[in-house]
Amino acid sequence: MCGIVAAIAQRDVADILIYGLQRLEYRGYDSAGLAVIDQNAHLNTLKRQGKVATLADLVATEQPRGGTGIAHTRWATHGEANETNAHPHISQDRIAMVHNGIIENYKSLKETLSGQGFAFKSQTDTEVFTHLIASHLQNQSSLLEAVKQAKQQVTGAYGTVIIDKENPDTIVAARSGSPLVIGLGLGENFVASDQLALLAVTRRFIFLEEGDFAEITRHKVSVFDVDGNPVEREVVEVNASQDTNSKGQYRHYMLKEIFEQPTSIRNTLEGRVTTDGLVDGIFGQGFEQMLKGVNHVQIVACGTSYHAGLVARYWLEQYGHVSCNVEIASEFRYRHFHTVPGSLLVTISQSGETADTLAALRLAQQRDYLSSIVICNVDGSSLVRESDYAFMTNAGAEIGVASTKAFTTQLTSLLMLTLAVGKAKGLAEDKQSLITHALLGLPAKLEQALTLDSHISDLAEDFIEKDHALFLGRGDQFPIALEGALKLKEISYIHAEGYAAGELKHGPIALIDADMPVIVVAPNNELLEKLHSNIEEVRARGGVFYIFADQDAHFESDETCHVIDVVSTDALTAPIVYTLPLQLLSYYVAVIKGTDVDQPRNLAKSVTVE
Ligand code: G6P
Repeated sequence: MCGIVAAIAQRDVADILIYGLQRLEYRGYDSAGLAVIDQNAHLNTLKRQGKVATLADLVATEQPRGGTGIAHTRWATHGEANETNAHPHISQDRIAMVHNGIIENYKSLKETLSGQGFAFKSQTDTEVFTHLIASHLQNQSSLLEAVKQAKQQVTGAYGTVIIDKENPDTIVAARSGSPLVIGLGLGENFVASDQLALLAVTRRFIFLEEGDFAEITRHKVSVFDVDGNPVEREVVEVNASQDTNSKGQYRHYMLKEIFEQPTSIRNTLEGRVTTDGLVDGIFGQGFEQMLKGVNHVQIVACGTSYHAGLVARYWLEQYGHVSCNVEIASEFRYRHFHTVPGSLLVTISQSGETADTLAALRLAQQRDYLSSIVICNVDGSSLVRESDYAFMTNAGAEIGVASTKAFTTQLTSLLMLTLAVGKAKGLAEDKQSLITHALLGLPAKLEQALTLDSHISDLAEDFIEKDHALFLGRGDQFPIALEGALKLKEISYIHAEGYAAGELKHGPIALIDADMPVIVVAPNNELLEKLHSNIEEVRARGGVFYIFADQDAHFESDETCHVIDVVSTDALTAPIVYTLPLQLLSYYVAVIKGTDVDQPRNLAKSVTVE
């Protein structure tokens, strides 16, 4: 994960590039760089280790001039995070390239190019791609043609933009497995890995499709499909609500972040999952090999992140063929636990700074764990720095204190981890393919789930006089019931409990009456029949239901039972899909009650004290 911005304009573009990088910093910020071609066809490259701000300082001092430029903020994959490995990469002091993704066959290409006399300065796969394009440019004058030929030789994932100081009026972009968008201006055009980077300069975009490549000048954009045929791609107008720096059209950050989830999850998947499965190496060097020795997974987290861990246990045991324990960090750190031989420690944390989770990691490091990995949203955070491996959720900054998109991107990441463990443990190909396709289909399902918005805002009226609510689920929906209850109590201050539906008869059923709304998550899975029975037990005692159910689950609405149809989805990703209606329910109840939705009382986004 990295961020790309590029521009071709009459004016100097360095400031546009820096602004764009700042908007993309959530995608990685271990180093940053830019290259611009000035009026004398001189290629000026500036790079800095660290955050975009350090590059911005350098640019402010150096003031590089030029209307054709590319820029990049990096999250290191190949080669450590230093200035040499930072992008852009340069070949023959002529072409400059920025690249997101991983070139899988870079080693063999590097050998061939070394044989042709190309010298390598960095440890990156990107430099190999850059020299490859340069090698093709030796035989012809068209940058587009050189990129087209080089593309045919690389395998892996890329979103890339290239400039050539001998063709300063053109930039070339290519997409395969890592998104790119072209921004259309007046007499100037732009490219970025996320349109957010370009909202200051345009609202009109062409989203490149898989395999597309494009030649872009100040006045013209020519797009070609994977076979090299010229194609017309739709021009999309993007409204201001997509701006992460503001709430846009949304009343609260929380609502904005709920609606961002399809995009956030696309970002989680980007460059990591293709129809062929997981891209090699996405968890870090040696991780896949290490997994072969793992027999047991210990998950440790707090709050919403703990609920993500609870869901992951169902996945890891079923598809990863490993035993799994999940524990709240503040308990784990003080328990005299026994370390199962061959254990992998997985911590989950949006912020990467939660004190208890960090303490649990440090404690585990003194024990006999095989390795540790954190699932995290904040790069450079303590958990990321101190864990053996870090897998970034790429949700983008989450401002609302109640976690929404951080949770669903954690779940998506954990399902990818499950796939990696499954692969290492010999999970059958058809099962691997099932997980892959469920992951890739997820953003579209979430978009459909969000269409329930106005229906749920109407239902929320029923809750404002209530003091208590009960959330029920079974199997991997039990943690979703817990999360639904947590969300409601966090922001509406209504007391809520999540329960495994089968456990209800062992106590909580005593609480059931017409004043206790019972919210049920009921996807069409193997436990649906059991859930039907649990519901009848409550119904017989005068309970009032709100059932979020698959259209095919055969629940019927009546006076005491409100059935809300949720998009049909595979059982595997149902916990993620069913989370969204529960988030919306909490949100609208809180809005009607008039609480401080984004900053609920007594809470903090990042809890750095014990
Ligand atoms: C706080 C936040 C929760 C979050 C929990 C764990 O309580 O308000 O939303 O789930 O901390 O935070 P982490 O950053 O470790 O996920």
